[in-house]
Amino acid sequence: MSWNAHIITGFPAMFPGCLGESLAGRAREDGLWSLTTHDVREHGQGKHKNIDDTPAGGGAGMVMRADVAASALDSVTAQHELPVLLPSPRGVPWTQDLAQELAEGAGAIFFCNRYEGIDERFIEARAPLEVSLGDYILSGGEPAALVMLDSIIRLLPGVMGKVESGLQESFSVQSGGLLEHPHYTRPQVWEGMEIPEVVTSGDHEKLDKWRRQRALEMTQERRPDLLEDLPQNDSAPKK
Ligand code: ADE
Repeated sequence: MSWNAHIITGFPAMFPGCLGESLAGRAREDGLWSLTTHDVREHGQGKHKNIDDTPAGGGAGMVMRADVAASALDSVTAQHELPVLLPSPRGVPWTQDLAQELAEGAGAIFFCNRYEGIDERFIEARAPLEVSLGDYILSGGEPAALVMLDSIIRLLPGVMGKVESGLQESFSVQSGGLLEHPHYTRPQVWEGMEIPEVVTSGDHEKLDKWRRQRALEMTQERRPDLLEDLPQNDSAPKK
């Protein structure tokens, strides 16, 4: 069964964008997921089919009208019972766990708007899950939706060739929530640097220990915050 992505946007030409290529593009051709865009402009109100208006109380930019947003969303939710996500810098952080949870469902509806905003009454009334990629401002929800979708699609059954390559990555449960250990390939010596001996030794037990140790060290160095969630005995890299 296919996983279905629905995108409500004023810029349907932004999709599938990068998701039309490589892993996600092939998976779409194989029917593992589908993408449907819904043009919010078709729900514009009044003589000029406006979708936004000046902010009440003054201020810069334009705000999407609640009636337009609701009409666009309701036309999709009437047909598809799926979680509704609203990419926004004020949302909950987008995480691997959230991507995994959504990948296990039937699909998702992404409501994309320009950053200036959307009438708060729409958010209160329809209660989409607001999700953020991080503490920075994008020009709109579309690039965020592409990133979020990318992280979901690669988790769908059958999308990644080698199952393990998904299982041991940074942030997955199987990696213990650590950043990934380093990787190497031929040539054996490059610019005077050799592949660490343990990697090519053939001793799998030793290699597993080394990888775990390097993952811990890297996490300690770059993302010590991730170590706080680890079980006690794993929390400090051994020197
Ligand atoms: N829209 C604008 N900025 C965003 C961000 N950081 N994350 C998600 N959606 C956004």
